[in-house]
This record gives sequence, structure tokens and C-alpha cells, in this order.
Amino acid sequence: KETKKLRERLLAWYDVHKRHLPWRTLASTELDFNRRAYAVWVSEVMLQQTQVATVIEYYNKWMKAWPSLEDLASASLEEVNEKWSGLGYYSRGRRLHEGAQKLVSELGGTMPRSAEELQKLLPGVGRYTAGAIASISYGQVTGVVDGNVIRVLSRLRCIGADSSTPVVMERLWDLANNVVDPERPGDFNQAVMELGATVCTPKKPLCTKCPLQENCRAYKKVNTESTFKTLPK
Ligand code: ADE
Repeated sequence: KETKKLRERLLAWYDVHKRHLPWRTLASTELDFNRRAYAVWVSEVMLQQTQVATVIEYYNKWMKAWPSLEDLASASLEEVNEKWSGLGYYSRGRRLHEGAQKLVSELGGTMPRSAEELQKLLPGVGRYTAGAIASISYGQVTGVVDGNVIRVLSRLRCIGADSSTPVVMERLWDLANNVVDPERPGDFNQAVMELGATVCTPKKPLCTKCPLQENCRAYKKVNTESTFKTLPK
């Protein structure tokens, strides 16, 4: 089946080409689910509006200062703002702080265990961030859709329509939930993001380096059309 091939190809590519980011090494450590979910939450919120290269240093400093939810909950807002300084959009840091306090006072310092609960309980955590935390730290089989994923999936299925419309967004979420690998959902989701960030780029995508070339309808379409153009009449 085509989806099976797509998963195999993408994960094999990811295993070789993934960037070694601090929040990605967590899965193989003995850190418990709770700490891992907290760490992925912090990384995903930082990554919402800031590039990976910038986030790394802030993430490391943050996790050193506040390795657990309890540590973050007992920090002052001044300390939080100071640590966030330079990242921009300060409400993000404030919401992490608020969320940590809420989880400590209401749930005894445990992270909610599903994407649905995460989204419901945590301020600033929407459908994407909830799905990312749940798939990456708990292995919940759920897809994610962000800017990179929109581009990759739209090209794979040649969805030309404007992705900002609710109908198209629903279609992309359905597609993301259907293609996600049930064995490695967190890696699969990060692999799609990684492909979008490094290969399936907005301008001049590197199709010759793409593991999904054979699965890609946009690639086929462009290729066929340009072949027709060069064929003699
Ligand atoms: N952007 C948002 N989340 C990411 C992740 N987990 N890896 C790489 N880029 C991302």
C-alpha cells in the first residue's frame, strides 16, 4: 500500500538526516513520561514563532533553570520574563508559567495524558502543539499540521486550494491523521516537519533529495507537464 511505503521511506530518511536537537534525545533517556512531556511542551512553545537555531540555546537554559513542572511553577514571573528575553512574544513564556502552576495545583504536577486534555487544560496550547506533545512524548497516534506540514502534504496530494480555508484545513488534518505511522507517531510527525524545513522548502524544493519523490503528485504533475513542453509536436 502506498501509505506504508511513504511511512517507510520517510522514517528511513529521518533516521539518517534528522538534526540532533536537545528535545529529541529525550526519548532514549530514562526520563519519565511526565518530564519528557514537559520538555517537549517547552520546546514546542518556543518553536511556535522562533527558528530552531535560535531556540536551542534558550531551551537549554530554560531546562537547566527549571527541569520540572514544579521548578517552573515556583519561579517568579520576573524570572520567567528574564529567561524568555530575546525570544519575543512574551505571552508564550507567561503561558508556560501559568500552565505549570495550574498543573501543579490542580493535577499534582502531572502532564495531561492526551492531546485532547492538553489542549483543553493548557493556555496557549492549540491543536498543533497538543498533537506534537502527545505524539512525541507519549506516542499517541495523532497527526499534526503546521506550516511545514501543510506544504508537504499539499504537494504530496497536489491540493492546490488555499490552505487557510477551514475546509482545506480539515482535509489536511484528516490526511495527517491517516498517514501518521502508528508505530512511531512522534518520529513521523517530526520527520514531516524536518522534510518541510530542509528539503520540501517553499522556494526551489530539493526534489532530487526527497525520499517521497515517487509518492508526490505535485512532483509527477510538474514533471509530466514539463516533459510535454519539451516533446516535439
Ligand atoms: N518545529 C516545531 N516543532 C518541531 C520539532 N519537534 N522539530 C523540528 N521543528 C519543529
